[in-house]
Amino acid sequence: GRCVVAVDGPSGSGKSTVSRRLAVSLGARYLDTGAMYRAITWAVLRSGVDLTDAESVGKVAAEVDLRIGTDPQGYAVTADGVTVDAEIRGPEVTGAVSAVAAVPSVRALLVARQRELIAKAGWIVVEGRDIGSVVAPDADLKVYLTASEAARAQRRSAEDATDVAATAADLARRDRLDSTRKADPLQQAADAVVLDTTELGIDQVVDRLRALLTE
Ligand code: CDP
Repeated sequence: GRCVVAVDGPSGSGKSTVSRRLAVSLGARYLDTGAMYRAITWAVLRSGVDLTDAESVGKVAAEVDLRIGTDPQGYAVTADGVTVDAEIRGPEVTGAVSAVAAVPSVRALLVARQRELIAKAGWIVVEGRDIGSVVAPDADLKVYLTASEAARAQRRSAEDATDVAATAADLARRDRLDSTRKADPLQQAADAVVLDTTELGIDQVVDRLRALLTE
């Protein structure tokens, strides 16, 4: 059969870890849509076009040969044949991704690609910012993960060994850009199950979601 689980939420809400583990435990595919926006951003930075020039950014995005796997235990992301898994997590891409993701033509392109990948999968867990609201409004389960700002900054800085205060500032900046942009802003779908993960461990969240799926 088919089953689509949409997981949305801000950075540090536990989205990625939870989504990957849930996919593994279900034997499902997994799609990291943030990695797609990051890979396009990498290509835009490499091209040297002005980040505030939406038309040029859209042109670069349309020309990149972007590929992403859907194996939750290890998926490669390539842009024009270059493996970019490490680079897309670096500070340059993180600093620029929200600007690139705000360009409507970039979103239209990636949303279409995401829908194709979802259509090809049987069971799939898809994580991002606009999955339940835009990419897969007919998902079988929609989850919106949140956590306090302090917990989110703590988690993220533990992951990449950065300073907590700097991480908190970066998360706040991206949250603001992601939720106030005109095209497909980060938002809770009306029918999403909201889970505050501040006090919950990863396994607890995964168990909660598995229970929701069998309800
Ligand atoms: O790793 P982190 O949770 O911080 O971010 P991510 O999921 O890798 O997404 C990086 C950026 O891509 C976000 O800050 C958004 O600007 C953008 N994004 C988006 O606009 N829509 C999505 N479905 C996924 C990511």
